[in-house]
Formats: sequence, structure tokens, C-alpha cells
Amino acid sequence: MDSTTLTSLAQEKTLQSQFIRDEDERPKVAYNQFSNEIPVISLAGIDDAGGKRSEICKKIVEACEDWGIFQVVDHGVDSNLISDMTCLAREFFDLPEKEKLRFDMSGGKKGGFIVSSHLQGEAVRDWREIVTYFSYPLMARDYSRWPDKPEKWRPVTEEYSDKLMNLACKLLEVLSEAMGLEKDALTKACIDMDQKVVVNFYPKCPQPDITLGLKRHTDPGTITLLLQDQVGGLQATKDGGKTWITIQPVEGAFVVNLGDHGHYLSNGRFKNADHQAVVNSNCSRLSIATFQNPAPQAIVYPLKIREGEKPVVEEPITFAEMYKRKMSKDLEHARLKKLAK
Ligand code: SIN
Ligand code: FE2
Repeated sequence: MDSTTLTSLAQEKTLQSQFIRDEDERPKVAYNQFSNEIPVISLAGIDDAGGKRSEICKKIVEACEDWGIFQVVDHGVDSNLISDMTCLAREFFDLPEKEKLRFDMSGGKKGGFIVSSHLQGEAVRDWREIVTYFSYPLMARDYSRWPDKPEKWRPVTEEYSDKLMNLACKLLEVLSEAMGLEKDALTKACIDMDQKVVVNFYPKCPQPDITLGLKRHTDPGTITLLLQDQVGGLQATKDGGKTWITIQPVEGAFVVNLGDHGHYLSNGRFKNADHQAVVNSNCSRLSIATFQNPAPQAIVYPLKIREGEKPVVEEPITFAEMYKRKMSKDLEHARLKKLAK
């Protein structure tokens, strides 16, 4: 399994057992049963001082408080760059298996291609292939792990990384100000803003109702910018996690979601959105997640605790430690679930 892609499994009529989720984890809502509830916010005028900026900031802050997930349009990232990035990513997944597996990272390498990644040691696999690379800090760029095909992948992904870093910092400035802090408070708290890109390819799936493209999770980092195609499949929760909705794809928009780090720094005021990706039997789907994370040594602790509030974090810990604890908690949960069967 580790040395073959999902292409051949996608031709089969039934799903291999390693992809079959427990009943309680299976999709509740179809990939194309769209909801418009998540706010779509235009960023046109965000750089102008005055009325327009504060109007936009208000909407962003409300979206972070209510949902922890929203979409942005008029974000200033060139639409040609977005379509180049999407086309190249699709071309990568269309490459022959042998070509993709030149960048196989299943042996523990950092960055490259992997089939059906899942949390280490977890029993059930996600129905997806990914290609991933570290783009910031600059010294994290290991070009030997960045695919060299399709041609132009490297210059396009580099430009995309820069533009998304700018956009993320702009959004973090808004959230810093909303917390009554200096504009650069959140980026400073990251020490050195890291960036990791994960390109997800979800092939057509023979039995989409009993599996997931990507299981339910919150992102660990500060903020994530997700580009998705028009197929649909990204789902978020409402009513305190009880109800799932499928987010309506908006052409050219980025889905923005707050991660655990952003949630903790705001002392829980901004939600860390719970989300997952479902798949379907009609067509494949592509999404590109750009994770803006703090440096591993950055401290995870609220930047501001309002009067009468308790800190949502027991003690200041590093982001590396926070990540380790999150992963081991997830694994423990999976282990106990398996034992309970
Ligand atoms: C993610 O959560 O990283 C990706 C979700 C998606 O593919 O829609
Ligand atoms: Fe995610």
C-alpha cells in the first residue's frame, strides 16, 4: 500500500478495510449539499485607513468569534497565480506513479509525496494523496524534496508562498488589533512565522459514505489559508460541534481557518475550527492548504487575558510541545476506541 498510489484502488468497486471508518465518524452530509452559512468577506479596501478597513475588520473578528472559519475574496492574490498553482498541482497528481514516488516520504523524510497520509500509527487511513513542502523559514526549503515536475512548479510555488505569507500576516494584524494589541503582536508571538504547504488530492472513491478524505481535526498552527476547487467536500461544524455543514466553494476565494495556536493566543476568544474533508464517487477533488505556524520554540500562552477570565492554557509551553501533546492525545483516543470494540 505504501508504495502504490490510490489510482488503482479507485478503480475497485469496494473500499479496502483500512479506509473504512467507524459509524460515528462517517460523513453525515453529502459533499455537494452546500451551506452558505460561513461568512464570505471581501477584503477590498482593507489597506485604506478609516471606515472601510474597520468595517472589514469587524466582519473578520465576528467570523473568528462565531466560527473560526470564513472565506475571503478580493484578497489581492492574482487569479492567474491561483490558476497556475491549481493546474500545476493537478498535473503533479496526474504524473505516472513512478514519477510521484521519486519524492515518497513514507520512510519518514520531511516533505515530498505520500499516499493516504494519516496520523502515525492510526488504524484508519484517509482517502487522499498529498504533496507537501516547507516554504518558510527560507532555510527550511529543501529543494531536493520539492517535485521538479511539472516544469515551473518551483517558481510558481515560491511566488504563491510569498503572496500567501503576506495575506496571512495581514489577517493576523487585524486579529492583533481586535485583541487590543499592537498590529504585529501575533506575528511576533510566532517568533519566526513558518509556512508549510500541503496539496491534497482526493481521487474518486468507490464508497464515499463509509470513509473520509481527511478525518475531523483542528489545525495546530496559527492560521490556515485553504484554496479548494469547485467540487466541494470541506465540512465544518456548528452547534458546538453537533451539526456538520459542507462549505459552498467560492471561485478564487481562500477559506481561512484559525488553528489551535491562534485560539490559545486569543485565550479562546477566536475559535479553532473543527473540520474534515469528505470524498465522492463522481469526481476527484483538489485543495491546497497553506499552514502559517509559529516557530517550534514559540510560546503558546494567551497574549491577553481579559478581566474575570481564566487562561485556557494551564502553563506556557512551546509550540513543539503543544504539537507533541496534541498528536499523542489523538493517538491515545484512537487506541482506546480500538480497545473498546
Ligand atoms: C485541510 O484541512 O487541510 C484540508 C481540507 C480540505 O481538503 O478541504
Ligand atoms: Fe485542516
